[in-house]
Amino acid sequence: MTDPAAVPAERQGSDAARPGPPLWLLLELTYRCPLHCVFCYNPTDLSNVGRELETAEWLRVLAEARALGSVQLGLSGGEPLAREDLETIVAAAHRLGFYTNLITSGVGLTEARLAALQAAGLDHIQLSFQDSTRRMNDFLSSTRTFELKSRVAALIRKYRYPMVLNVVLHRLNIDHVEEILDMAERMGADYVELANTQYYGWAWRNRAQLLPSRAQLRRAEEATARFRERVGRRMRVFFVVPDYFEVRPKPCMSGLGRVFLGIAPDGVALPCQSARMLPGLDFPNVRAASIRSIWYDSPAFNRYRGEAWMKEPCRSCPERGRDFGGCRCQAYLLTGDAANADPVCALSPHHHLVTEAVAAAERQAGAPALAAPLAFRDYREVTRADSRADTLGRRPK
Ligand code: SF4
Ligand code: FES
Repeated sequence: MTDPAAVPAERQGSDAARPGPPLWLLLELTYRCPLHCVFCYNPTDLSNVGRELETAEWLRVLAEARALGSVQLGLSGGEPLAREDLETIVAAAHRLGFYTNLITSGVGLTEARLAALQAAGLDHIQLSFQDSTRRMNDFLSSTRTFELKSRVAALIRKYRYPMVLNVVLHRLNIDHVEEILDMAERMGADYVELANTQYYGWAWRNRAQLLPSRAQLRRAEEATARFRERVGRRMRVFFVVPDYFEVRPKPCMSGLGRVFLGIAPDGVALPCQSARMLPGLDFPNVRAASIRSIWYDSPAFNRYRGEAWMKEPCRSCPERGRDFGGCRCQAYLLTGDAANADPVCALSPHHHLVTEAVAAAERQAGAPALAAPLAFRDYREVTRADSRADTLGRRPK
């Protein structure tokens, strides 16, 4: 999926009063998922999530968003293949003129469904892997899915889609980057995204166990550079550095409410997938409001547009037009105030919160055991109020 940051500036909204259209629409069709990934960005508490939208409601969202100017459509979850109406939704999106991208673990992508999705007009598929080894892939997702994913990768090639693999990196698999890239090459990948974990949702909960050390990061970057040199243009490899190791933040979502519109499974409209946990914002629901009014008029979508909300040091910083003060969710998670500068920024008075987390990861690097048990995403558990962390010793189902 194209990062919204890649959308040319002249096509983005440039002021709070009249933003541009929501060019990038992401439908999180369901939070149901057969996997239990320890880095999942979905909410850790689903007790406030209502029932999933019906097919007709999703189709209305598509039509309204397209009329407003949305062009790129991501279909994700959870696992979007858990929705039996996925083909119907893809067909409607295709007829409306969206570029459609399925973001999937591959579980449920049988040849019959792939053929039906292609007939419906699906443009693009992004397949996730957890690791190059069955043992780690299955452990991290708490499932036995490694062989299944390999079969799905072959199917994707058979149906002549570009082979796009996504692997989330963290302390437990970042030392396998060379093997991961070799695996991708054997599978005939065209693009590989090595995306270091961003610390939201379940990854935030597991941050102490997942944050790599600087030495691990350096070795992974070196392995990536060697691989790129060897394969040349045959395969493109994107390496997304964990922003905890930077001194300036990413322009998250190209600024909230500028190009990205996400719809959660229950119809809640979000300016970023993780924004649901931000306090004090009453996110509108597509069941009660039109996409147009949500995008242009709702207080929640207008809250972080423009620059009036910014505090120092962002308010007077010459870089504020480039990074919009970084990530609101990260600012909230780390400092308790989403209007603060993202603490990744070395100019932030809270930057020490990031450097201390990295220092703790350095101390933990090389230790034989994890500092604490990993919490596995578990849909059934988190729908209960007393969701519990699981233990490292948990066996794949
Ligand atoms: Fe960006 Fe704010 Fe840091 Fe300036 S102070 S670089 S605007 S995060
Ligand atoms: Fe929500 Fe960055 S993840 S604004």
